[in-house]
Amino acid sequence: MPSVDRDVAIVGAGPSGLAAATALRKAGLNVAVLEARDRVGGRTWTKEIDGAVLELGGQWVSPDQTALIDLLDELGLETFDRYREGESVYVDTAGVATRYTGEDFPVAESTVKEIDRLIAMLDKLAAEIGPEEPWAHPLARELDTVSFEGWLAQQSDDAEATANIGMFIAGGMLTKPAHAFSALQAVLMAASAGSFSNLVDDSFILDKRVVQGMQQVSVAMAERLGDDVHLNAPVRTIRWTDDGVTVLADGELEVTARRVIVAVPPNLYTRISYDPPLPRRQHQMHQHQSLGLVIKVHAVYDSPFWREEGLSGTGFGATQIAQEVYDNTNHEDSRGTLVAFVSDEKADAMFELGAAERKRTILESIATYLGPKALDPVVYYESDWGTEEWTRGAYAASFDLGGLHRYGRDVRTPVGPIHFSCSDIAAEGYQHVDGAVRMGHRTAEVIASALRG
Ligand code: FDA
Repeated sequence: MPSVDRDVAIVGAGPSGLAAATALRKAGLNVAVLEARDRVGGRTWTKEIDGAVLELGGQWVSPDQTALIDLLDELGLETFDRYREGESVYVDTAGVATRYTGEDFPVAESTVKEIDRLIAMLDKLAAEIGPEEPWAHPLARELDTVSFEGWLAQQSDDAEATANIGMFIAGGMLTKPAHAFSALQAVLMAASAGSFSNLVDDSFILDKRVVQGMQQVSVAMAERLGDDVHLNAPVRTIRWTDDGVTVLADGELEVTARRVIVAVPPNLYTRISYDPPLPRRQHQMHQHQSLGLVIKVHAVYDSPFWREEGLSGTGFGATQIAQEVYDNTNHEDSRGTLVAFVSDEKADAMFELGAAERKRTILESIATYLGPKALDPVVYYESDWGTEEWTRGAYAASFDLGGLHRYGRDVRTPVGPIHFSCSDIAAEGYQHVDGAVRMGHRTAEVIASALRG
């Protein structure tokens, strides 16, 4: 069996594992990265489908994501602005589409006021509680034992206002129904992006894309790491003592190291056998973190027809099958691409349908925003991360009701020589590539200072 001896073994060549490996190398330590798939990038994947280059996973960059922005700069990768000229479209609960400009949805004045009031409340909570240790705040238990849906209903009886606020966190970010996670988890999501206002501002949160595609961030880091990245090497077992680890992967690869970083999403921690087993607390905690579910729908047209009609391509409709739609045209591409998101229970319903009916139903929903031309794309593709063995959902993991205040303080706690790093346990940049990079750097720093003694 090929055996490699390194300072640090890293399980997973997503942005977090590769950022950690890069930082450890810079600190003078040697590494081996073991990746289950035949490619790097994890939940970022830029792929050509039927002649169209599509971002199947993570893609957008926002101005607060400075760890990612600095990394893009270091790797020489350029960004471009998301197209957002023209009017957006709001589809109300009755399915009526209305064009609008500006930040406010075209709803009753009283609902606009109610939405603004709820945003202000969530901004205040996000500022007070912060992303680093939300579980340590005096309100943590109270907010973590009520669902976000329940909390919103306590604050307001304007159903349209609460549905829209719920949409931004539930379908828009955690991709779970708003009854399935806590108000504290929602506040963490907002705090990790700087504020709730940032999350609802699509010009902010969906600001830029990487010209070469987001996967290129990982590809470029992996190129620099060269032969120290091993593909097709799913890690099955980690044997550990306080002094070090032996990591066993398929392909008969064995890495002995002083430390290991498990840089995979928390729902996959238990795919690895630990010898001796992890402590009771980790066994329990890991059962309370799960990934959401969203279908990322790509529809490519001969031209961006909506632009000619004065539309930006942006659309929101909390009760629509596709609750968000955006212009996702590639850099300097004459074709037009739309991206739409079908989240949680709506995704369940869509997967009950056959492929043809699902496609028709989703395109009809997109056409509700942008008109009948949306019904006939030249390329149509659904990113379905729920079927990916080495991910099993999208976008990222969150705790079930009550889990964040109960276990949160240990999400980043190492077990002996075993460290954990991924976007799902990040503070700033939580659930995003930026958080994956931040966690990689943070974990590398902890290990480098410990090994330097
Ligand atoms: P990631 O999951 O990317 O990498 C983990 C790696 O570990 C994978 O390569 C996996 O194969 C590997 N692995 C798992 N088990 C293993 C084992 N036992 N042995 C070896 N390897 C193993 N973010 C953003 O910033 N902007 C956005 O627009 C979006 N949009 C978005 C859309 C969709 C559809 C998805 C799925 C995700 C996003 N995201 C996003 C989220 C973003 O993609 C995500 O947060 C990061 O990719 C997480 O990076 P990590 O390295 O933490 O995990």
